[in-house]
Amino acid sequence: MNLIMIKFLKIIIGTGFIVFFILVTIASIRTLSLDVNAGLQLARWETPSDISLEIDHRKREELLTLFKEAIRIPTVSFSPTESNTTALLHFNSFLRRAFPTLFTSGLVHHELVANYSHLFWVPGSQLDLVPYLLLAHIDVVPATESDGWVAPPFSAQEIDGFIYGRGTIDDKSSLMGILQALEYLLIQGYAPHRGFYLGLGHDEEVSGYQGALNIVRLLKQRNVRLAFVLDEGLAVLDGVISGLDGPAALIGVSEKGLATVKLSVSTLPGHASMPSRESSIGILAAAVKRLEDNPMPMLFGHGPERETFEHLAHKFGLPLKFVLSNLWLFSPLVGRFLEQKPDSNAFVRTTTAVTIFNAGVKLNVMPSLAEAYVNLRIHTAQSLQEVMDLIQFTIGDHRVKIELIEGFDPLPVSSSDDKSYGFQIIKKTVLDMFPTVAVAPGICVGNTDSRHFKDLTKDIYRFAPLWFKPGDAKRFHGINERISRKNYEDLVLFYSRLIQNCDIRKLPEPHTSVHEL
Ligand SMILES: *[C@@H]1O[C@H](CO)[C@@H](O)[C@H](O)[C@H]1NC(C)=O
Ligand SMILES: *[C@@H]1O[C@H](CO)[C@@H](O)[C@H](O)[C@H]1NC(C)=O
Ligand SMILES: [Zn+2]
Repeated sequence: MNLIMIKFLKIIIGTGFIVFFILVTIASIRTLSLDVNAGLQLARWETPSDISLEIDHRKREELLTLFKEAIRIPTVSFSPTESNTTALLHFNSFLRRAFPTLFTSGLVHHELVANYSHLFWVPGSQLDLVPYLLLAHIDVVPATESDGWVAPPFSAQEIDGFIYGRGTIDDKSSLMGILQALEYLLIQGYAPHRGFYLGLGHDEEVSGYQGALNIVRLLKQRNVRLAFVLDEGLAVLDGVISGLDGPAALIGVSEKGLATVKLSVSTLPGHASMPSRESSIGILAAAVKRLEDNPMPMLFGHGPERETFEHLAHKFGLPLKFVLSNLWLFSPLVGRFLEQKPDSNAFVRTTTAVTIFNAGVKLNVMPSLAEAYVNLRIHTAQSLQEVMDLIQFTIGDHRVKIELIEGFDPLPVSSSDDKSYGFQIIKKTVLDMFPTVAVAPGICVGNTDSRHFKDLTKDIYRFAPLWFKPGDAKRFHGINERISRKNYEDLVLFYSRLIQNCDIRKLPEPHTSVHEL
């Protein structure tokens, strides 16, 4: 914070005080006007259906028991070709046992996809309403107790109000939360106006080529269009963004693209006693060094990360409130601040990570081949092709062969304005549950199954109301993944509210406010 102000003052002194004074005046007015813009007023929403879930002691024990049972089935994806299929089969029968109403209700169509994934369809009573889709995944990444877990990773042991286990965050909490919510709603006689789908993939952790892709194929065959898709991704951050007053729910409106690039240099093999001036290792090492010394351009302000800060600006204290309300002026400065740390740097540019370097086989032989792999996560404002061109330009050495092993463009940015149905419904549901949380669009630096759905809808959101405190993010794919009892219960309530809120036919008219000067 202070760093921003010091850098800022240096720049100001360099540009002259008069310009500064004019800018500050405009900026101050903007800071005030943004405060007024609080979004759609909750009071004016229609409420077509209102089945409130009373979670009494019996229900609470029931839903927690089922959730723990889901965690204990080790549905691990080890690699794209290897998963625990025994566990996946167990999971299939577990779901039928856990949610009998869901599987027998005349309102719900169920089908198994690629043996272990599931597609549910609940047609709505009002056929003109465009359906939506909720996504979650069954598989988890591997976990080994000896890495330092306080409880075995597939035990679902409860310690101080937290349930520990692989999948408690990613992603069995959403999966079970969605199914549990629908089970309870069906028991209480709920019948939706707007139809919806539930997609449960079994290989998300290894790219979703079996589960999600086959679900997409089925929906395309049936000419389904979706109002929006909601998948895992971002969460409620509480005390994680420094300077922000109170928790913030970030709803992912895009995710970064990917490029896995192989660099290789071949030279003639020779004896180490008469080396040529440059070895394949030296040539490749120099190329890798150039990539690291010349990071991809800083793009803060050109992607949805800009809106994240604009939405949250009013929740910061001064001077950050002032700076963030005026990104038209300060975005280069904020960008330079964010790029200092690896976690925030990931939001402002395409990142470059050299992950594998192989060369040489024998102490006295010049290696004929050196290879390296580079993993790049592409910022929303860049394309895969632009990144490949920049790599070529930066390396600038025709002896280095550059091959794209796997890659895709960043996902299109979904809408998040006052007229955006999906975004506003999710936002309303968050506020129904947690009235004091700030809601803002955000960007996912990792990838989800939802990326396969981009031809079926223009609006894909990545969010679950998981409550993240400082340090919790590293439990994700790490050790001691956990969720509090209360948070899991909140997920069930959230999805129950969300499904009912989606029956809203159209959004209320936005109230007029001073948006821009
Ligand atoms: C696969 O899952 C089953 C239970 O469904 C478990 O008994 C077995 O140990 C698991 N295998 C591996 C390799 O994790
Ligand atoms: C589904 O199971 C059948 C029979 O075990 C097998 O032949 C097929 O390859 C499986 N399909 C997938 C996508 O795993
Ligand atoms: Zn996941």
